[in-house]
Amino acid sequence: MLRRLHKDQPESFAFTPANLEWAKAQITKYPEGRQASAIIPLLWRAQEQEGWLSRPAIEYVADMLGMPYIRALEVATFYFMFQLQPVGSVAHVQICGTTSCMICGAEELVAVAKELIAPTPHTLSADGKFSWEEVECMGACANAPMAQIGKDYYEDLTAEKLRALIGRFRNGEVPVPGPQNGRYASEPLGGLTSLKEYEAGRNPHNASVQAAVELKDTVKRIDGTEVPLRTPWLGGAAKPVKAEPMPAAKPAPKPKAETAPAPAATVGKKPRALKAARKGKPDDLKLILGIGPKLEQLCHKLGFFHFDQIAAWTEEEIAWVDENLEGFKGRVSRDRWVAQARILAAGGSVEEAEAAARG
Ligand code: FES
Repeated sequence: MLRRLHKDQPESFAFTPANLEWAKAQITKYPEGRQASAIIPLLWRAQEQEGWLSRPAIEYVADMLGMPYIRALEVATFYFMFQLQPVGSVAHVQICGTTSCMICGAEELVAVAKELIAPTPHTLSADGKFSWEEVECMGACANAPMAQIGKDYYEDLTAEKLRALIGRFRNGEVPVPGPQNGRYASEPLGGLTSLKEYEAGRNPHNASVQAAVELKDTVKRIDGTEVPLRTPWLGGAAKPVKAEPMPAAKPAPKPKAETAPAPAATVGKKPRALKAARKGKPDDLKLILGIGPKLEQLCHKLGFFHFDQIAAWTEEEIAWVDENLEGFKGRVSRDRWVAQARILAAGGSVEEAEAAARG
């Protein structure tokens, strides 16, 4: 399936203060230089906030992590859990269309979605409350056919049962997820044939459904207020991370000042820097794998605007820059900037430079 950004995009995106605080805490889980590892949880939180992932949201997250936009876009378009178009305000219905579900009636469920929501997938219903899509196996094959509505599974469905479920969601109810035909879990339809001794005294629902009922987040979006933010990895007892003022979503935050003094070097030797790009035209340093908009700004702040500048760095100079990339220490060595810059300065292709980065 072709996954593209939606044709209508909002002007901007910014995390709410609670989500920004959460996102910053997530980033601290990863060692210096590995902040990009937080891409999936941050994109997911952005989607939880808005319901879907817009281009400004993807770029906002990329900026937070110092990643080239294309890298964040690759993640967002690769994983089907990321919705690249608006979804229903109440729920997005994902109907499994893989083998078990298909032979047990998934096509009838799709027909109900077409009738009650919209004739085509990824389209909002007339009241804006629902959207739907057909998805691949969601691992509940023993309870086929099934659909994920919001965050939970509704299993052992029939067309009429799905019709009733959508009607109840439309009326503001949140039906209990899990098997919809009276089964406890995925035992035989005729009841348990073994392990019967465990039937007595069990919860009214199986563990997954019980958790869903207790969490009450089937169609609720996470907004950062659910559980106290805990960051024990920051040392000692859990402590909250203080949120900073919300950054402007677009355009990307500007460097504090063009003339800000470079941080003091502690190792190596500072390479020759320029006050400004030659003829006012810097090279697109983002063509170097590993340099995103934020790192490019940082390079400019340090006086590096051109591929040939980077291509000429010595080992000592690499050590200095590695040490002085605020928040991105070690990126020059890790991503082999110099090897990449040499290729790009000589007119080589981005693909050749990427190959050099990968060694
Ligand atoms: S085939 Fe539908 S959940 Fe596996």
